[in-house]
Amino acid sequence: MTDQSAPPRVLLIGAGSIGAVYLYQLQQAGCDVTAVCRSNYAQVKEHGFKLLSLRYGNVTYRPNKTLSSVSECGGETFDFILVCIKSFPGNRPSLPDILAPVVRNKSTAIVLAQNGIMIEEEVALAFPDNPIISGVIYLPSVQTEPGTIEYHEMLNLLELGTYPGDAPPEHHAAAVRFSELMVKGGGNAKVLENIQIARWSKLLLNAAWNPICALTLCSDGDFLLSSELAEELAWEVMMEIIALAAEIGIPDITVEVAESKLSIAKRRAKEGTGREMSMLQDIRQGRPFEVEAIIGNTVRLGRHIGMKLPRLETFYALLKGRYEAQAKERRQGSTSK
Ligand SMILES: NC(=O)c1ccc[n+]([C@@H]2O[C@H](COP(=O)([O-])OP(=O)(O)OC[C@H]3O[C@@H](n4cnc5c(N)ncnc54)[C@H](OP(=O)(O)O)[C@@H]3O)[C@@H](O)[C@H]2O)c1
Ligand SMILES: *[C@@H]1O[C@H](CO)[C@@H](O)[C@H](O)[C@H]1NC(C)=O
Ligand SMILES: *[C@@H]1O[C@H](CO)[C@@H](O)[C@H](O)[C@H]1NC(C)=O
Ligand SMILES: *[C@@H]1O[C@H](CO)[C@@H](O)[C@H](O)[C@H]1NC(C)=O
Repeated sequence: MTDQSAPPRVLLIGAGSIGAVYLYQLQQAGCDVTAVCRSNYAQVKEHGFKLLSLRYGNVTYRPNKTLSSVSECGGETFDFILVCIKSFPGNRPSLPDILAPVVRNKSTAIVLAQNGIMIEEEVALAFPDNPIISGVIYLPSVQTEPGTIEYHEMLNLLELGTYPGDAPPEHHAAAVRFSELMVKGGGNAKVLENIQIARWSKLLLNAAWNPICALTLCSDGDFLLSSELAEELAWEVMMEIIALAAEIGIPDITVEVAESKLSIAKRRAKEGTGREMSMLQDIRQGRPFEVEAIIGNTVRLGRHIGMKLPRLETFYALLKGRYEAQAKERRQGSTSK
């Protein structure tokens, strides 16, 4: 067993908006955190992160170590590897390829703090003995410039659970330990028996609002006010998710859950506080967005079991077109420089 008196060693891969907030919480909880950064590496290495937040105030802090690549970890082993990069299933290098150099010890727990569905399987297949902890995040934050994170709400919840749900007790214990660290660091976290219920209930929100906002450039609230067909579209997408969840045996993804998710956007419409979903923010900034993890995986699952998801399939085809157009723009932009 790990020496309980030594500070937990955590490797953070992907120190963007979510990763930077979790880094703060883990350090508050006494962890020794090594962060692998990409585009914000130089800024973070030199100046650390600046977090402007309601929950933690305005604070500046540094990872215990800042690296620009996983390969720089050398022979070090970690208690937890926390993955906070966006999820891009099908991209190369794959997530298992990224993780391979540092997953050397079967007791290293891999925590996936990412949106989407069916994102765990490739990691579980590559590292069959390691605890795989699936995480569903409620934490609205954005990196506004390299190393600067804005997080203006109190909302902070990380739902955790092993993948698969019936993993060995040591895997469950690792999930409990990670959740205790997040709470000790000032956040909210809980361990669920079946994390897939949480993942699919988040999917109700993500699969409806991310495509709608990304394709219309509306906030969720503004879209609802834009025509009398708007609410029906969002609702029917949620009904497709509910039907799919029922078909594959994910329990508790009900009309009541959809109603409560839709009511959030309805309230924002009324109050004029609509939110620009992350996929819309990514599109505005010309950045890759999580079309495959959120919509592609859902549509493929539907096709696999012979279920028609006409609205989600339409969203997928349109968003995938947009995604490829942006990729082309980025390639041309980088060659014209
Ligand atoms: N932000 C939110 O409000 C929120 C809320 C709920 C859930 N989520 C989910 O949380 C996950 C993380 O989102 P985020 O908002 O934190 O994204 P983000 O701000 O884009 O951060 C991702 C970070 O990972 C880095 N990265 C990507 N690939 C990497 C690699 N191979 N090695 C090292 N670093 C790498 C990115 O670097 P580059 O800058 O170079 O790309 C970026 O700094 C996503 O699945 C998202 O859907 C986010
Ligand atoms: C794996 O990690 C555990 C806990 O940190 C440690 O006790 C064990 O010695 C490590 N095993 C190897 C082979 O490094
Ligand atoms: C890691 O960094 C935090 C915050 O700066 C610090 O409190 C802690 O002592 C450091 N841990 C180690 C093992 O250096
Ligand atoms: C944090 O910084 C923001 C923007 O710079 C400012 O509006 C806010 O009042 C600051 N909060 C605290 C607690 O100092």
